[in-house]
Amino acid sequence: MEAPAVVVSNLYAGYGGEAVLRDVSFEAARGEVTVILGGSGCGKSTLLKHMIGLHQPLSGHVFIEGRDITTARGRERKRILRSFGVTYQSGALFGSLTLMENVCLPLEEFTRLPLAAREAVARVKLAQVGLSGAEHKLPSELSGGMQKRAAIARAMALDPAILFLDEPQAGLDPVTSAGLDELILSLSRNLGITFVIVSHELASIFAIADQAVMLDAQAKGVIAQGPPALLRDTSANPKVRQFFNRTPTPEP
Ligand SMILES: Nc1ncnc2c1ncn2[C@@H]1O[C@H](COP(=O)(O)OP(=O)(O)O)[C@@H](O)[C@H]1O
Ligand SMILES: [Mg+2]
Repeated sequence: MEAPAVVVSNLYAGYGGEAVLRDVSFEAARGEVTVILGGSGCGKSTLLKHMIGLHQPLSGHVFIEGRDITTARGRERKRILRSFGVTYQSGALFGSLTLMENVCLPLEEFTRLPLAAREAVARVKLAQVGLSGAEHKLPSELSGGMQKRAAIARAMALDPAILFLDEPQAGLDPVTSAGLDELILSLSRNLGITFVIVSHELASIFAIADQAVMLDAQAKGVIAQGPPALLRDTSANPKVRQFFNRTPTPEP
């Protein structure tokens, strides 16, 4: 049996010895969209950065397609890093480079493809996110939604099986945000890409998520996981029901 795309196993994570996340465990299934959600500061980005090997956990493990990214070194680590793409919350394309040059960067770093081949790949990736014709534009010449699409194209440069996106909807208007949801669903369905997405946009979560993993700052960990509609309707935890039903927290 194939390993799940991502397995987070008893992860403890934090800064300066202080835990932000305690004993977090969940799986992201292949080909599915898993959304990590929760209030500001609850550790969503921290979790994502541990899943992609940017931070080392206090303890616990993260397996990418069965390979432990927390212990891998050298060639094994490089192989794991090649198997996924990332867009960060802060985000950014290189402002002085065209979209084509931005998407070509990972190809320069990780492959020996000649320039013409790199550009051909970049053209395809930009087409896959709906940016044909914008190859020679600078990021500053694009709308926020188009910049997000370009960042996804760059993350797809090496044909990753998994894409990690940290708050791709942040700062987008609802219509642009819905367009991005459609892109994510289309890439998931047509290319079989597994998505792990940090988001707290309720509409987006219901539109795209097969599974939701809800973190909570007080609990310093997972307080609910499952399909969003199921959590909305059946969770025993009032915080979870409140979030999914968008009901206000009662006054103390
Ligand atoms: N590099 C860091 N050094 C120290 N503390 C951090 C760092 N990054 C995040 N934190 C703290 O960890 C907690 C979780 O942050 P973060 O993962 O960014 O939350 P979220 O993405 O859910 O808003 C916050 O209290 C934040 O201040
Ligand atoms: Mg964050």
